[in-house]
Amino acid sequence: MSKKLNIALLAGDGTGPEVVREAVKVLVESQKNYGVEFNFSENDLGGDRYIETKTLVTEKDIQQFKNADAVLLGAIGHPDVKPGILEQGILLKLRKEFDQYINLRPVILYPGVETPLANKNPEDINFIVVRENTEGLYAGAGGYIHYGTKNEVATQESINTHFAIHRCIKYAFEYAKNNNRKKVTLCAKTNVLTYAHDLWERIFYQVAEEYPDIETDYGHVDAICMWMVKNPEWFDVIVTDNMFGDIITDLGAMIQGGMGIAAGGNINPEGTSMFEPIGGSAPKYTDKNVINPLACIGAAAMMVKELGEEKYSKDIENAIIETAISLESLSAGKMGMSTSEVGDMVLNSLLSQNE
Ligand code: IPM
Ligand code: MN
Repeated sequence: MSKKLNIALLAGDGTGPEVVREAVKVLVESQKNYGVEFNFSENDLGGDRYIETKTLVTEKDIQQFKNADAVLLGAIGHPDVKPGILEQGILLKLRKEFDQYINLRPVILYPGVETPLANKNPEDINFIVVRENTEGLYAGAGGYIHYGTKNEVATQESINTHFAIHRCIKYAFEYAKNNNRKKVTLCAKTNVLTYAHDLWERIFYQVAEEYPDIETDYGHVDAICMWMVKNPEWFDVIVTDNMFGDIITDLGAMIQGGMGIAAGGNINPEGTSMFEPIGGSAPKYTDKNVINPLACIGAAAMMVKELGEEKYSKDIENAIIETAISLESLSAGKMGMSTSEVGDMVLNSLLSQNE
């Protein structure tokens, strides 16, 4: 009997549907080799639906995602919708609604992929960022007084609870332990955020005591940006708050070869997780069959791992590596191949691993 997995596809905007299609193709055509049977349901959330119906996340969407084992997201972002509406109303809303309290973002340079860092190789760029995904500056705590006047005051507070910090740091150490990683670095700003990040630091070292075999390190976020460029080999697992995690993972995506390859997961280890390529909806490449689907296929690989299929996930990752080597570039339109051809290549490489 094969294991049934229900996946909700939130293909979204722009090039989202094109990359999700390739990820689905890879899964559908390989599932039987791994004793898995996917059941996909489609969801039409996104900019077009918003323009047409003015709806963001509805009760019906939530029910659909609740009934799924995981969500695979393509991209959210539409040129005709004011920035912020879809991001807040869909992406951040879902992260919150499903309490996806970890944003897991691997920064791994695959062999043959070009990095802008001179003299750095795959053995130098291989770490995981564990980003707290529910609070900090993203908690939505703040407001205006005297809106629109010269007396206006705007506040936006960073919310840091013991509960959320603890579960995030605990996750980072567990991740290190289970994935044979040796060191966890806390990325914060204890010299300025003397309350919030003091709490992070205290919890970090308390949790670390439970993991005597894992080395610990600390870096201020600004210095970490510098070292990610200068000495990325120092990092193994980085744990950090929501805002800093957002920023350093864009830097991370660049040093691992760009948005064409960077994938991430919004994870609730006890609930419904959502996986996504980090790049946006790339409206100018929409429907041109030139966008790189590797990041989305990588997100699917992360999803499969989270759903307990470790070998399947590893094999997809190996197929991505094999494909990435043969592309001329990872950038849209410069791959030397179309979106669907890249998907086919990953699939063929995956299938050949089981021959
Ligand atoms: C990301 C994005 C989102 C974030 C935006 C679109 C709200 O930048 O997933 O990193 O800030 O988390
Ligand atoms: Mn971001």
